[in-house]
Amino acid sequence: MKITLTVNGERREAEVWGGESLLTVLRDTLELPGSKNACEQGECGSCSVVLDGELVCACLVLAAQADGHEVVTVEGLAPAGGLHPVQQAFVDAGAVQCGFCTPGLVVAVADLLEREPSPSDDAIREALAGNVCRCTGYVKIFDAVRLAAERR
Ligand code: FES
Ligand code: FES
Repeated sequence: MKITLTVNGERREAEVWGGESLLTVLRDTLELPGSKNACEQGECGSCSVVLDGELVCACLVLAAQADGHEVVTVEGLAPAGGLHPVQQAFVDAGAVQCGFCTPGLVVAVADLLEREPSPSDDAIREALAGNVCRCTGYVKIFDAVRLAAERR
């Protein structure tokens, strides 16, 4: 079946099969590899995108469900040739090690700060509970969130 969706402000079309996830369409068909595929089970958050204003795991959304809807991926956050403030804060705070979790975290943090510009540590913890990082121990990630919030 053919679906039409808006991705990062651009109208895109894709031919999908019934069981195909939004994540595979984004990565493999629409050539947007920023959203990572680590678990494909909704456990790690590496595939986080915003669907009609809601943070979702793209691996848990059927591509067909996104037909006619609006998706923002990590590629859609930054201005051309630059970094989104959350990305810059991750760099400045040293919150990126292997980087596999980073795109999902950046999308989740940007979403958090849109809703809650000065989040408490508990709010940060709650918001990022679905994003797994195997490298950093989360301390630097929390630093990055606080830095991005301070700079807003
Ligand atoms: S790949 Fe989607 S939550 Fe892990
Ligand atoms: S930086 Fe490696 S998984 Fe988070």
